[in-house]
Amino acid sequence: MKNPIGIFDSGIGGLTVTRQVINLLPSESLVYFGDTARVPYGTKSDRIVREFAWEDSLFLLRQSVKMIVVACNTASAVALDELNRYLKIPVIGVIKPGAKAAVKNTKSGRIGVIGTQATIDSGAYPTEIRKLNQDCTIFSRACPLFVPLAEEGWVTGDVPESAARRYLEPLLAENIDTLILGCTHYPLLKPLLKIIVGDSITLVDSADETALEVKAVLESIGQENSSKQGEYEFYVSDLPRRFEELGIRFLGRAITTVKLAEPWKATSATNFSVVE
Ligand code: DGL
Repeated sequence: MKNPIGIFDSGIGGLTVTRQVINLLPSESLVYFGDTARVPYGTKSDRIVREFAWEDSLFLLRQSVKMIVVACNTASAVALDELNRYLKIPVIGVIKPGAKAAVKNTKSGRIGVIGTQATIDSGAYPTEIRKLNQDCTIFSRACPLFVPLAEEGWVTGDVPESAARRYLEPLLAENIDTLILGCTHYPLLKPLLKIIVGDSITLVDSADETALEVKAVLESIGQENSSKQGEYEFYVSDLPRRFEELGIRFLGRAITTVKLAEPWKATSATNFSVVE
């Protein structure tokens, strides 16, 4: 089926997930929406994040997407169940795939999770991990400074290193063998985090596993597209030029045309499909 896959995030970070979807499914077309006007989501209440997630999803539905990937950990943590309950197309998030990858990897069952304050407060990762393996012990920590550091491009050097040591020390003291990078921005800090955690701890990010889940879901509903190279459209709610400039670091390739969209201004008279 030629319709694109819709992907949304609070801003630019979801491009790390998009990158893996493009690598795995080069024939699929994508529409990406980054809510750059309202980022960050990770410091906001569940109520507000849910409202934003709805507006973002309805915008993507208006672009005739065949499925939605909630690439934002925060939005996945608080809004995914609700979106799935009401939308007719498949909606997948990044929490379950991340939990699955961590459970697959751990030997000791001691798993660390880092993410935004909202993601950690939601308890979404521990819930998903325990659904897969009740015997795991999970240690969580919010690392709010990592998002601005990654956006700023400060992913190595003294400043991110001392922040990372401070955030990670309590988790390292718990003898974890797996650490979930539960936020779209954290893969950019991977080389630094790897130095800090050492070889005995595996860093898991959801991007690879999410791309595999996208593929599995499309196959299960018979809607994969394999005939030609996919086309990509990028929308943001503010500062499209900045997104073009920064995007290459997150996506691993240049982004040429980024368009402006303000989903909250849309009228309610749209043809979005919801389960009655
Ligand atoms: N995209 C968010 C996440 O993965 C990080 C940035 C934000 O706080 O909005 O949780």
